[in-house]
Amino acid sequence: SSQPHSQLWLSYRPVSAGYAVHASARFQELVCPETGDLALAGVSPLWRACEELLAGLEGMLGRRPSRVNATGTAPALLLQLQPSSPDDAISGAAERSLAWPPSPADEGYSIHLNTLHTVISSRSPQGVLYGAFELLRRLRREDPGALAGGGEVVRSAPSAPLRHWDLWDNLDGSVERGYAGPWQHRFDVAAARSSVVYPLGQQRDEQRAHDLARLLASVGINGIGWSNVNACDHGNQHLLSSRNIASMRALVALFYSYGIHSFLTPCFDSPQIVGGLFTSNPQVPEVKAWWAKKIEEVAGAFGDAFRGLVFKGNTEGQPGPGSHGMSQLQGANFFAELLEEVGAICIWRAFSHPEGGVDQALYQFQRFENWDGEARWNVALKIKNGPYDFQVREPVHSLFGHLSNTSLILEFQAAQEYFGHAKHLVALPSQWSSYLGFDLSSRFPPYNVQTLAQVASGGIGRMPFSGIAAVSNIGTSRNWTGHVFSAVNTYGFGRLAWTPTTPAADIMREWVEVTFPRSSSYAVSVLTRMLQRSWEVYENYTSSLGWGFACAANHYDLDDMDRRRHTDHRASATHIGYPRNAGGGYASTYNAKVAARFQSIEQCPEELLLSFHQVPYTHRLRTKNNSTVLEWIYRSHMSGVNAAEGFVTDWLAIEGHVDLGSYPGDAFVDITTRLEIGASDAAAFAKSIREYFETLTGCGLRDGRLQCH
Ligand code: GCU
Repeated sequence: SSQPHSQLWLSYRPVSAGYAVHASARFQELVCPETGDLALAGVSPLWRACEELLAGLEGMLGRRPSRVNATGTAPALLLQLQPSSPDDAISGAAERSLAWPPSPADEGYSIHLNTLHTVISSRSPQGVLYGAFELLRRLRREDPGALAGGGEVVRSAPSAPLRHWDLWDNLDGSVERGYAGPWQHRFDVAAARSSVVYPLGQQRDEQRAHDLARLLASVGINGIGWSNVNACDHGNQHLLSSRNIASMRALVALFYSYGIHSFLTPCFDSPQIVGGLFTSNPQVPEVKAWWAKKIEEVAGAFGDAFRGLVFKGNTEGQPGPGSHGMSQLQGANFFAELLEEVGAICIWRAFSHPEGGVDQALYQFQRFENWDGEARWNVALKIKNGPYDFQVREPVHSLFGHLSNTSLILEFQAAQEYFGHAKHLVALPSQWSSYLGFDLSSRFPPYNVQTLAQVASGGIGRMPFSGIAAVSNIGTSRNWTGHVFSAVNTYGFGRLAWTPTTPAADIMREWVEVTFPRSSSYAVSVLTRMLQRSWEVYENYTSSLGWGFACAANHYDLDDMDRRRHTDHRASATHIGYPRNAGGGYASTYNAKVAARFQSIEQCPEELLLSFHQVPYTHRLRTKNNSTVLEWIYRSHMSGVNAAEGFVTDWLAIEGHVDLGSYPGDAFVDITTRLEIGASDAAAFAKSIREYFETLTGCGLRDGRLQCH
């Protein structure tokens, strides 16, 4: 039934002959220990590590190592499980003697390159698996260091305990904000029939599901959310039916064998919809009893693979505690109490829209600012990177600097909802790493620096279930992500979540090298450079200076742009920007040092100027060649269009130098077409923006100079 799909960065095609000879001499035998403890359905990540190494070494080196029980005189690769140390357990979780989440130290690994043997060891089975994938990555890149024998050691451990991948798949087979649908629809909005895991009415492609687990584990993902946060539509309201739970068991077990825990996102009204009760009001004893039983049922079916429920309540039409006079906090605590019984957590999403003319940023802050000390120990608040909605550039959400005794999960979006829907080239690791490195400063002396990455890794307070999550960009298209280049966002997310301080450029280069392995080094540089520039280029031809919400898709919706005058960019004939700098405004919700910076028009980073300040169009920008704001709006759009056109030229110039062997079909043509669409959309966006602001202000750019009538 299945069309061949790409193996992306796990395509184990041969390395060059010279390297293969050296490498296969070093890996003649493979020693795998018997088992590990993470076993549901009998398969542990240790076993997966062995399987993966056998397949990878055979594919890349042309010779399958023999599997032996102990080392002899032949050079071997050994997998080793070491005892874990109680000292490293995560505080908070340890107090409750919870075996989960695994401590980063336990999930870390080392690779010892001894004279004769190579040893991958970890204190956890999944740590061994991560080490195996790291070795395979090094071999894929033909790293001579991976074959060294001088006692060298590679060590690595993740920063954040939770590293989650969130599918927004619907049980009806579509994907919310899915742009990677069936091949024949590749240039339409491809949400329908694009779910890899819920192929409505059809047999699931098991190989695909299996490969998804491998791809995610290979970059260190250890948790998955299976379905859309809009949990009461598209068939999702039946997620908790006994039939669905039973049918998901094999999938949950499969992912668990790769060290990936499962989280379910049920509809708040499940007691009525699934249970047939007359209400879903949690204050009614029957409702509480129903949830308790249901949670037991899920935990019974999924075992230790089940680690929690995720809720989005009372926003965008979803029911929630507010529907019954309860606060968000009461709702989260209600579920957390029930989930505690099975050692699981309640993940509560902070994203929400206000009613009326309230500032969304301020609204979200106020909705959750008092959770410290109030939320139960096993609640984690999941917060988008910024307070708007995955825009091209936002300030880091102020809740991250504010809460310190509530577990916080940082939520990114790999799906390109506001980034040209996987038709445009946008490599998000640059954006993500700029957020992760942002210094929120601390409210707690003696600490004064606290980056977002540190918060997401557990911060300086008590936040045992902190972590980093991304909304998936995966679909059924044969290349998985719609745009071949969008896979850098899947890969890059995992690698950044593992080590948030890695420079984005390194991650993107690594992705290029493992995905297009036999390319010329010139082509690798060109590609890496394209990826590196793409975020800024996209920002230039959509919305610079942090005004946000200008572009949703493959078209510029000027009506929407105009409607958002009231809620977002606040553009008038003479001024633009949202004055969040005023006393009591959103800027004041940051810790003092950060607040002062955002509130000052001189110190506010100019990329975010219009997020905090309302300025006249004549305001001069110190970091943009002294352009005025209006000049910069026009100029940045022009430069964005030029750069998007340049991507097409750059790409065509490396034809024949890029190894596209990981992809089925004519990937070169497909990529070219998408880059061309990106360039022509960019031109259309820029034209719309020019017309919009010319009409609004009466001023336009002629021959590089502003002229008003
Ligand atoms: C955005 C997105 C929705 C999504 C929502 C959320 O508004 O467009 O599809 O449901 O975010 O994150 O809850």
